[in-house]
Amino acid sequence: MAQYARSPAVAVIRLRNPPVNTLSFAVLQALEDGLEKADADPSVKAVMICGENGKFSAGADIRGFSSPNRPVKSLAALVSLIESSKKPVVAAIEGIALGGGLEVALGCHYRVAHVKARMGLPEVTLGLLPGAEGTQRLPRLIGVPAALDMITTGKHIPATEALKLGLVDEVVEENTVEAAIRLANKVIGQPLGPRRLSLKPVPKLPDMEAFLSQARVRVKKQAQGCLAPELCFQAVRAATQMPFADGVRRERELFMVLLSSGQARALQYAFLAERAAQKWTTPGGASWSSATPQPVRSAAVIGLGTMGRGIVTSLVKANIPVVALEQDLEYLNTGRKAVMLLLEREAMKMEVGAQTLDFHNPARLQFTVDFDSLRDVDLVIEAVFENMALKKEIFHKLSRICKPGALLCTNTSALNIDEIASATSRPQQVIGTHFFSPAHVMRLLEIIYGRHTSPTAIATAVQLAKALKKVGVVVGNCFGFVGNRMMFPYVQQAVFLLEEGSRPEAVDRVLEDFGFKIGPFRMSDLAGLDVGWRSRQGQGLTGPSVPAGTPARQRQGQRYSPLPDLLCESGRFGQKTGKGWYQYEKAGGRTATPDPWLHSLLAQYRDTHGIEPRFIDQEEILERCLFSLINEGFAILAEGIASGPEHLDVIYINGYGWPKHKGGPMFYASTVGLPRVLAKLHKYSEAHPDVPGLQPSAFLKKLAAVGNPPIKEWMSYLSQQSSRL
Ligand code: CAA
Ligand code: NAI
Repeated sequence: MAQYARSPAVAVIRLRNPPVNTLSFAVLQALEDGLEKADADPSVKAVMICGENGKFSAGADIRGFSSPNRPVKSLAALVSLIESSKKPVVAAIEGIALGGGLEVALGCHYRVAHVKARMGLPEVTLGLLPGAEGTQRLPRLIGVPAALDMITTGKHIPATEALKLGLVDEVVEENTVEAAIRLANKVIGQPLGPRRLSLKPVPKLPDMEAFLSQARVRVKKQAQGCLAPELCFQAVRAATQMPFADGVRRERELFMVLLSSGQARALQYAFLAERAAQKWTTPGGASWSSATPQPVRSAAVIGLGTMGRGIVTSLVKANIPVVALEQDLEYLNTGRKAVMLLLEREAMKMEVGAQTLDFHNPARLQFTVDFDSLRDVDLVIEAVFENMALKKEIFHKLSRICKPGALLCTNTSALNIDEIASATSRPQQVIGTHFFSPAHVMRLLEIIYGRHTSPTAIATAVQLAKALKKVGVVVGNCFGFVGNRMMFPYVQQAVFLLEEGSRPEAVDRVLEDFGFKIGPFRMSDLAGLDVGWRSRQGQGLTGPSVPAGTPARQRQGQRYSPLPDLLCESGRFGQKTGKGWYQYEKAGGRTATPDPWLHSLLAQYRDTHGIEPRFIDQEEILERCLFSLINEGFAILAEGIASGPEHLDVIYINGYGWPKHKGGPMFYASTVGLPRVLAKLHKYSEAHPDVPGLQPSAFLKKLAAVGNPPIKEWMSYLSQQSSRL
């Protein structure tokens, strides 16, 4: 709602819809009523609009976009109503003014912001454009380049930057509402024409056409298959080409195109899924609502290799003092140099005026080879080689050395958390914190609880993720956890497709066209083929422990491809050795080129194993890779390893480069239709009966049997199933 008050000549309208004052139908109605009341009262000379609880407004209600009562049209009409008021209207922006919230402020004649406020038009990130005339007003206020940047990226800008751009008239450090009322009193009686943005011309540029054509190329490149940035661009371009009213009509047309696109639905789902994934529960009954985190005032990282370096950097950036430990002085020096380089780069990227990174102070960042230095830390993250015996040895040591309450975390990518915990005397404090490479950049933190992990330990890891500005997703313990477990059948299909006649570049192209940042073969080359090779050796799938007489392409009755092992045996570990599934310009090079050596290896391999190569079309490549990954997702849900499909989708969007505008693998399955996914899996598993990853999961079959139930109802079918068992 909105609250109406007087201060004495200024009517105060306060938007009120906790927690972030979204513009529900009721809020818009109350705002309109407040404006009419102020207009009708001759003793009111000016109006001030602010928000309850130190927040202006987060804009339209994202949960309400799919509702037929969506109040978008009335928002635009209301913004016009504010602008046309005969009495000056001042916005007092505290906290946030986002989307429709900022559009309301743009309808006002003046804007005062608190120094800590942030403003933005993030509609593009929801697959939309600012549909309440924001694409037409903002360029008139701050010029085309700045408006285009804000509207096509959706970035939030701080108040100080908004002041420089001319988006706000005043920035205050104290009481914003009082400052806005002061300004309202001051401007009573002044002409409003120049303050009405719809009447202003768009500021000219020396060569608007050239600017726009360059900007369009940039926007398209950054969009990576997402429609909204391009249509946001078109709406802003309309502002430069048409009078205000025509521009508004164009904005509305483009908005409707986006609103009905599947991408908008997927991106809005992704926004809500990220919030839903914060509400974790475990089958044992622990939950986000009852568990309390313990404070993390200091941390340690063991192992400063690829992952440890990024983890230390992340902790330092979050202002948590760190002890960084390596196995000997030589590794320590290499690790220290790498960490310092990362931190220096991060410091350069930081905003002017932001708090500086204090990494030269040994009280904030200490390097050591002495485990005794870990005595007092609140939390340790182990990131040594992926080797169970080594991890157990380290956890045993930690359990003896660290103070009783310290949380012991492992960054293992697949190993059993319970087995690691069994080496300690405090398994309730052992937890998996699976970072993604590069750890200081990637947003995902997969948090894995073991059989004995306490709710406090889970809550503390979730809190840590927030402190590191990451998305923490809590999952159960199984080989590969959620992300890597779903990845195994996907990569396996990609390799099988090569055996049957395809090429790495063909498979990668199909998945990159779908929207992945890189396809499975480029990804394997980047991560290093030796990582999987070592893991397969550990599992007895390749190497000397494979019993004599085992068929080359079969393990325990299932299809197996030795192709990745053959590459590793020839020293082709991917980018790091300059050769893998592709060839690179040098060891460590990044430009992948198709490799004739690999093509002839494939031909020879097929000959040796009597495989008749066939042409494999794009549809089969896409379906076999994606549907096997999705199928594993259903098995994970049925086993209770994750609490819901949203969790899987958040993991894939933030850790595996899944295109956000396709909502995550489980959401994508719901858009394809579960009966169709099931039928395709049936077809492929009949053709490849020795591939368990293609055999449809029981949970998928159950859901498909009832049609294509909405994704938010899936888990209820699971509980119906278990209660009957
Ligand atoms: N609609 C509905 N719910 C919203 C919301 C919105 N616009 N913004 C936030 N929320 C909800 C969240 O879902 C969350 O709900 P739960 O507690 O039930 O999970 C709650 O508000 C708090 O949000 P966060 O957990 O994200 O809190 P935060 O403090 O980390 O961030 C925020 C706050 C910066 C406002 C962030 O939530 C955000 O970026 N929100 C989206 C803002 C946005 O994109 N607005 C544009 C909407 S489109 C529009 O306005 C124009 C139009 O008509 C087309
Ligand atoms: P890495 O080989 O780059 O680094 C491991 C580091 O641990 C080395 O610097 C080594 O000297 C150090 N180390 C070994 N024994 C030690 C000991 N006893 N005491 C102190 N330090 C010791 O390995 P990477 O890639 O950083 O992986 C680390 C862990 O993170 C592994 O468990 C891996 O599975 C996991 N992981 C790796 C990812 C990746 O992309 N590389 C992604 C996610 C998880």
